[in-house]
Amino acid sequence: MKNIVVLVSGGGTNLQRIIDCVESGEIPDAQISLVVADRDCFGLERAKKHQIKAEKIPRGKSFSEELKKILPENTDLIVLAGFLSILPAEFCTSFSGKIINIHPALLPKFGGKGMWGNHVHDAVLKAGEKESGATVHYVTAGIDEGEIILQKSFEISEGETLETLAQKIHDIEFEIYPKAINKVLNFPL
Ligand code: GRF
Repeated sequence: MKNIVVLVSGGGTNLQRIIDCVESGEIPDAQISLVVADRDCFGLERAKKHQIKAEKIPRGKSFSEELKKILPENTDLIVLAGFLSILPAEFCTSFSGKIINIHPALLPKFGGKGMWGNHVHDAVLKAGEKESGATVHYVTAGIDEGEIILQKSFEISEGETLETLAQKIHDIEFEIYPKAINKVLNFPL
């Protein structure tokens, strides 16, 4: 049985999708042993509703130190699902290959500091991009720079808005995040 820890900061729809996939067996032989938020957010409520241990560690300098204290020893994978704090380089290095993130654009484009939520979609539209999508990648010290695990794109249509873009990308995220988790945990896709 693989043990997954999920870090969240927001509404947690990706967290919900992962919970559902674990419960349905789409992500087989795994459990979410802990959900940690760096602020009050609905993601914590989603975890509690499913009897998953849920903790808040306030964002800030000591976040990763506090996280290490409560991280189960047998953690196989740390999944960032709309987690807005930056994990320090030392933490990323010590869990190298065991932390993954999902980003709402086609990395390496439109990543890095400040590129989150609608800021990303806004930049994509302003740049006149022909396509967008979502990317699952390993987390390293460089923001959004780790090796890409899975990516899916779609063509931007005429009249695309922030809202339509965000919705399409969320749908792609729900499709590729469970697949990427299975890939990293060496389960069949
Ligand atoms: C997602 O769009 C993801 O790409 C980004 O944060 C968002 C989280 O959304 N990292 P949700 O909280 O899972 O709904």
